[in-house]
Amino acid sequence: MNFDKAIDRRKTESVKWRRWDEDVLAMWVADTDFEAPQEVIDAINKRVEHGIFGYGFPPDGLNEVVTQRLKRLYNWDVDVEQVQYVPGIVTGFNVAVRGLCKPGEEVIYQVPAYPPFIRAPHSAGLQGIQNEMFVGKSGQYEVDFEAFEQEIIDNKVSLFILCNPHNPTGRVYRQDELEKFAEICLRNDVIIVSDEIHCDILYDGRKHIPIASLGKEVSDITITLQAPSKTFNVAGLHTSVAVIQNPVLRERYNAYRAGIVSSPCILGMYAAKAAYEHGEPWLEKQLSYLQANRELIDEALRNELKPIKWCKPEATFLAWLDCCELGINGSLQEYFLEKVKLGLNDGPEFGAVGQGFVRLNFGTTRDNIVLAIEKMKEALEKL
Ligand SMILES: Cc1ncc(COP(=O)(O)O)c(C=O)c1O
Repeated sequence: MNFDKAIDRRKTESVKWRRWDEDVLAMWVADTDFEAPQEVIDAINKRVEHGIFGYGFPPDGLNEVVTQRLKRLYNWDVDVEQVQYVPGIVTGFNVAVRGLCKPGEEVIYQVPAYPPFIRAPHSAGLQGIQNEMFVGKSGQYEVDFEAFEQEIIDNKVSLFILCNPHNPTGRVYRQDELEKFAEICLRNDVIIVSDEIHCDILYDGRKHIPIASLGKEVSDITITLQAPSKTFNVAGLHTSVAVIQNPVLRERYNAYRAGIVSSPCILGMYAAKAAYEHGEPWLEKQLSYLQANRELIDEALRNELKPIKWCKPEATFLAWLDCCELGINGSLQEYFLEKVKLGLNDGPEFGAVGQGFVRLNFGTTRDNIVLAIEKMKEALEKL
């Protein structure tokens, strides 16, 4: 697999590349510019050749591939009937928020936050409670657990959307942090919806821990959402995995979902099976490639891109860039777009704490990373 291969996505339907004019370098929405593993492409082609695309159950063996992977990677025992499929993670957590919270109850999540977390409670007629992360002595983003519990108590919170690894900061929560989240949620009767969409892209040998794998008490209050979409660049095939081990919770979730959220596209389920079954060697290569992209950005931030800073992400292909010292009052997204034609996410999309930040997607070719660094340098010179 050649991750350096430049593929022009501007002539496709790509959301990432069609948002702005053709001369903009698009480094915003979180999909990568890499071709999916050949095994995934072959599996889709094979299914297409069959020529009939009626309603489908998950293809034979998909459930086993998913549960065996959870066992192999996390030593987590999940039964096949505890696994189901949703057309996306955003759909998955919106169903949970709408189906499991009663009027007057609230939803909590950390900020900065993936923007659909912010929208989910509002679209359900609920309030979102924002627990602010801070940069601690470790030089990394940390959670204020005392504030987290107090906010839960003060606001009658009944559901927590956990993002692990965390978008946009790239934090990977350690076991002790996950245990604290779990203890607080258990103590206060809070359901955990764990968005683990970025769980396959961890750096420096880190290991992902699904919060539900901590033990039965925790898995009983948890809905875990994972997907091949970011990992293998198949987000447009709309197939994600929801693990709900507690049968009562699963029943409540499914009762709400029925008639509203269909099962995923059959091609997506074939792609998921091939990716999870055969994609690991490809994934290892992608990880080294992304890790090198991350190092290149880190070096630039320490040298020519000062005073832009980051807390080096422990996971994800997302860079949460602190541009506060540039002294730009308006939208940084507009600044980079207008001055140097670089397309980034604007910090305030991730909550008010994102003022002064942009998010850059480094899941692209090395050439694009070099170009983005040049563009940012030019943007600094134009200040
Ligand atoms: C944390 C997080 N959750 C969910 C999604 C999107 O999931 P889906 O496309 O499956 O709805 C993203 C995409 O960027 C994400 O970063």
